[in-house]
Amino acid sequence: MKRIGVLTSGGDAPGMNAAIRAVVRSGIYHGLEVFGVYRGYSGLIQGEIKPLTLRFVGDIIHRGGTILHSARSEEFRTEVGREKAVQQLKKYQIDGLVVIGGDGTFQGASKLAKYNIPAIGVPGTIDNDINGTDYTIGFDTAINTVIDSVDKIRDSASSHERIFVVEVMGRDAGDIALWAGLAGGAESIIIPENPMKMDEVIARLQKSLESGKKHSIILVAEGVGSAVEIAKQLKQQGMDTRLTVLGHVQRGGSPTAFDRVLASRMGAKAVECLLKGESHRMIAIRHNEVISVDFAEAIKQKHQPIMSLFDLSKILSI
Ligand code: F6P
Repeated sequence: MKRIGVLTSGGDAPGMNAAIRAVVRSGIYHGLEVFGVYRGYSGLIQGEIKPLTLRFVGDIIHRGGTILHSARSEEFRTEVGREKAVQQLKKYQIDGLVVIGGDGTFQGASKLAKYNIPAIGVPGTIDNDINGTDYTIGFDTAINTVIDSVDKIRDSASSHERIFVVEVMGRDAGDIALWAGLAGGAESIIIPENPMKMDEVIARLQKSLESGKKHSIILVAEGVGSAVEIAKQLKQQGMDTRLTVLGHVQRGGSPTAFDRVLASRMGAKAVECLLKGESHRMIAIRHNEVISVDFAEAIKQKHQPIMSLFDLSKILSI
């Protein structure tokens, strides 16, 4: 193997740049040439490919977003699109690919097996919704962003003795709500994996009002449905309620030290795997060890959050 490519695809996540840096620098350290593919699979199809140097990836470890840009490509889902992408890889003599992204990114990469293009996935998504790895790059930064906002909201909730419903991202997964809810001391956490009934939310709020709590934070994962509806129902109960939808603020910002270290370890491991001749595997961290697992484990099995955190938050928020 002489030349590898690296791309970022799907929703951006803080720490993707640190992962790109690790792929480029460890690749060059091991004698490889590393090419950057811009705009994910769309850019691959269009041939937006340029060599990356040691200095080009300087000063990016602390930056959010991705210097390679990201996209979700419909064309790559088609055989015709993938064939165009393979032609580009051949044209640039790229012998292996590191793809940084979520499960959609890995599904795309797994289709390259048919064309004998070795591909290694690095999990980069704020959602932490990939099976087979304890953490994904960007999750730690995102939950820190959420609790920063929740702490601020709590100040206002406390001053006005109000209830705040805060909607967070996560697509179909509840990890962001769960972790940020526990860390931010939320009174209720509503996640798709264990959707709390409105009756229960209201009963918990009433109980805490009776016990002297004057304000409450309710964290809702977007995958549950409408936080607007939840806030509306609380208002209908006569509760002074406000709604905050955090949105894409959760995807930005400088990555935490945890995400930078995770991204560095995972990026370097991806290069190591390609050099060892591994293919169609995802880099994962389990019990603080960086390993590789089959793409199938990441793609075919559904991720489950640590539900004991949910039970604990219920105990600690009484
Ligand atoms: O996968 C990351 C994520 O931010 C999800 O949490 C969210 O549902 C989705 O991407 C939003 O995607 P987009 O930026 O394309 O609207």
